Amino acid sequence: MSHAAAKPAILISRLLPEPAVEAARARAQVDVHASEQPLPRAELAARLKRREGLVCLVTDLIDDDLLASCPELRVVSNVAVGFNNVDVASATRRGIVVTNTPDVLTDTTADFAWTLLMATARRAAEADRYVREGKFKEWEFMVLLGGDVHGKTLGIIGFGRIGRAVAKRARGFDMRVLYQDAVAADPATERALGATRVDLPTLLQEADFVSIHTPLSPETRHLINRDTLGTMKKTAYLINAARGPIVDEDALVQALRDGTIAGAGLDVFEEEPRVHPGLLGLPSVVLAPHIASGSYETRIKMANLAVENCLAVLEGRIPPTPVNPEVLSKSGK
Ligand code: DGY
Repeated sequence: MSHAAAKPAILISRLLPEPAVEAARARAQVDVHASEQPLPRAELAARLKRREGLVCLVTDLIDDDLLASCPELRVVSNVAVGFNNVDVASATRRGIVVTNTPDVLTDTTADFAWTLLMATARRAAEADRYVREGKFKEWEFMVLLGGDVHGKTLGIIGFGRIGRAVAKRARGFDMRVLYQDAVAADPATERALGATRVDLPTLLQEADFVSIHTPLSPETRHLINRDTLGTMKKTAYLINAARGPIVDEDALVQALRDGTIAGAGLDVFEEEPRVHPGLLGLPSVVLAPHIASGSYETRIKMANLAVENCLAVLEGRIPPTPVNPEVLSKSGK
């Protein structure tokens, strides 16, 4: 007579699409915090205490203290490509696998970086407000003029999957594409994307649009600051759909007020969900609430992948997208 192994116990820390939760319920004992609001820290720790798996979002801070208080935890599965909310070094030391959700959100995120780029250059949010406020009384020749996008120079900071997908879209706009990354893309990729690797100072000086697609790390925190903004063109636009703290918001607000650059399109902020009050008062800025990967299709794929990552680890399989695969090799998986 065979005894079915007990299902592993996992916590899903937020409202996720139902198919992903159902898939988890079929293979695990699942506790779901089915809310859009994050769990307060003490409650997260309490509900995670006896769980082996966690499926969480970037707004959950998974630090060393939390990991220390959950001795049975074996996997932290972040429903995001970025994982700066997780202390990966601590997890690795403790033999906990960390996973993320790359690839499935690449094109959707690149689409949204372009949404911000176009909306910022062509003042789409301002135009929308203008119409709603009843200001469209007459077709005016000189109203709400913006900058052209086609034929301009796009500078991409961080040339990973999303940066490359952004570059690919620039081809249709006949743009010159520069990129900065610690690692050079192979020549065939550079040729296919029409992209040239340059150093950051060159990129900032030459780009009409600077789009950020690098992870947040100690090296990239405040990479865009008063000094670097000061080297950009007065007519340039800054786009950030990566992580807020890469940009020093005080410096950005000042640069926009002073006309150091022309505008910005921001999906992420230094202290989310707080938005710098200076940004709220600037018409030349397009703001979004961290929704770059937020299409129906992609959010479902992210949730499915995160659940699969979590359960794969707990079922003794290699998860599709581990962040610290060294933990798997140590545990002999
Ligand atoms: C990501 O996947 O990193 C997005 O920013 C969503 O958090």
